[in-house]
Amino acid sequence: MVRLYIQGKMTTTIKLLALLCLLPFVVSDDNLPTSYEYYTSEGISSGLSADQSYFLLNGKNFSVYSGAMHYFRVPRAYWRDRLKKIRAAGLNTVETYIAWNLHEPQSGVYDFGDGGSEMEDFVHLEEFLQTAQEEDLFVILRSGPYICAEYNFGGFPSWLLRENVMGFRTTEENYIKYVTRWFNVLLPKVAQYQFTKGGPIIALQVENEYGNQEYQTFLPEKITLKTFIRFLFKTLLVTSDSPLSHQDKGTLPGVFLQTANLGASPEKQFEKLLELQPDRPLMVMEFWIGWFDFWTSEHNTKEVDSVKGGI
Ligand SMILES: *[C@@H]1O[C@H](CO)[C@@H](O)[C@H](O)[C@H]1NC(C)=O
Repeated sequence: MVRLYIQGKMTTTIKLLALLCLLPFVVSDDNLPTSYEYYTSEGISSGLSADQSYFLLNGKNFSVYSGAMHYFRVPRAYWRDRLKKIRAAGLNTVETYIAWNLHEPQSGVYDFGDGGSEMEDFVHLEEFLQTAQEEDLFVILRSGPYICAEYNFGGFPSWLLRENVMGFRTTEENYIKYVTRWFNVLLPKVAQYQFTKGGPIIALQVENEYGNQEYQTFLPEKITLKTFIRFLFKTLLVTSDSPLSHQDKGTLPGVFLQTANLGASPEKQFEKLLELQPDRPLMVMEFWIGWFDFWTSEHNTKEVDSVKGGI
């Protein structure tokens, strides 16, 4: 139909205009811009914004389609292959925790791939970030310090237990001392990879499910505003909790975007999140469509209905 119309009685200019309008539909997929080309080709003036009911990345509408890949659990030789598969699955973002225990295996001794620890090959964090970007993926970093991640001690280094820390995940003095020392090493390394500096990091999650904590002395209030914002002031800061069970206890409204962790009742969780945080985008950080297996335990599976429904 379109071709017939162009062949009709139109002036050359109109024909040309019509052809130009059609051009985007006739280019092959090979010529589609990458995500980075689309979002950054006109320069970068802003990062991921959650100041309205939807996300904007560098001023353009953006939907986060993210999958998790914990670099420290995958042999480094497979990273690029796994990241290619994530991108090929249609996702535009990869999310990972940062494992403090592996990066600081002894107090004050760090390993980011050249530290000589026995996990050395798994902790090339910067290479992971660069590879993700090369594979056209944005990155959500979940920096902890506590990450849970179904890890013993939630990713805290075991040596912390010998250091007279009286309150983990609180504002207790010794705890804050070690977290601050760690973040002062970690954050300058990752800050250069934030989106607004030309890197892949579009969001950074602080702590993990802090709403579970019995003592609500919110750690990030003490640390974030000083340390995070100093290094990552242009990156969206988020927290993640289950809105139904913990409301907004794990966040600081206005400072962080609260995201949802859930394994069922997505609609009810979203309703609650919207009530707690009107006019901001809804986002799931963890959707538990599966579950982890303990060594020697039977493989866990879930039924589709249990995820959709309200169990
Ligand atoms: C971005 O998304 C919002 C909400 O869906 C919509 O109102 C707006 O028109 C979109 N903007 C563009 C440029 O597509």
